[in-house]
Amino acid sequence: MEVIQGKNELRDLLAEWGRNGEHIAVVPTMGNLHGGHLSLVNVAREHAERVVVTVFVNPVQFGADEDFEDYPRTFDRDTRKLRTVNADVLFAPDVETVYPFGLENATRITVPGLSEHLCGSHRPGHFDGVTTVVARLFALVRPDVAVFGKKDFQQLLVIRRMIEDLSLPLRVVAAETIREQDGLAMSSRNTYLSDDERQLAPALYQVLVATADEIRKGQRDFEELEARAVHDLGNVGFAPEYIAIRQSADLGMPGPSCAEFVVLAAAQLGAARLIDNVLVSA
Ligand code: PAJ
Repeated sequence: MEVIQGKNELRDLLAEWGRNGEHIAVVPTMGNLHGGHLSLVNVAREHAERVVVTVFVNPVQFGADEDFEDYPRTFDRDTRKLRTVNADVLFAPDVETVYPFGLENATRITVPGLSEHLCGSHRPGHFDGVTTVVARLFALVRPDVAVFGKKDFQQLLVIRRMIEDLSLPLRVVAAETIREQDGLAMSSRNTYLSDDERQLAPALYQVLVATADEIRKGQRDFEELEARAVHDLGNVGFAPEYIAIRQSADLGMPGPSCAEFVVLAAAQLGAARLIDNVLVSA
């Protein structure tokens, strides 16, 4: 595996792959890699001859009072892990490579609507930061395929919309959420949990699964289900931001013809803001 920081070095390698007719899959990450990220690399392998993993903690997607400074940076460990799953390149650009005109002067990409509700309303500007950096990473890596996790379900839909709207020449593959044995979705932010909080944390997934079961049984009073889930999470010690039952296709309110529901949650537990979701076919 090659570790590359600069865009010229990357470009040379891309040119060589291009001459060989090899396809490229990219897995964008912010590092502190865990089993969820590594599973994305394995999925990427199934879709292209070459896999590039990007590690870049993107300042633009963090709010002023969020954890940009504290976000865990574990570069050596990330490098070792990526070697075990045979990534071809770890691309870890610096801020100047990604934002050559500086953060203030950067061209920004906004996906209206989809990025404004749910996590978007609790983290204003967050998804603009995500689309802004993901478009830049696409321009640098020029992938045929990009792999994103369903764990960040709204992010996945926002990125899909950007790609479709801008006719970007690549395909998105969505990968399943990887969980710890007790159900907690793997996340770089789980390291913020104390031992006691870590014991409580799987309740988030349990509440989502219980809500999904009610939907599966035919319960259609979604407001009542959401209120109950918020209450149950609060009882365990979470400070819920939202629990929402939506159509998985566009995160709209579920109509009578909804083919698949998604139950999404964001909740604070101690210093960690955790998100998760569960899909339910109608
Ligand atoms: P990050 O949180 O590092 O996640 C990188 C990718 O890993 C995302 O596609 C995310 O959905 C996926 N992922 C995270 N936890 C997962 C899990 N438990 N199972 C499966 N996939 C999981 O998401 C970001 O970084 C950033 O917003 C980024 C897209 C890189 C833009 O900066």
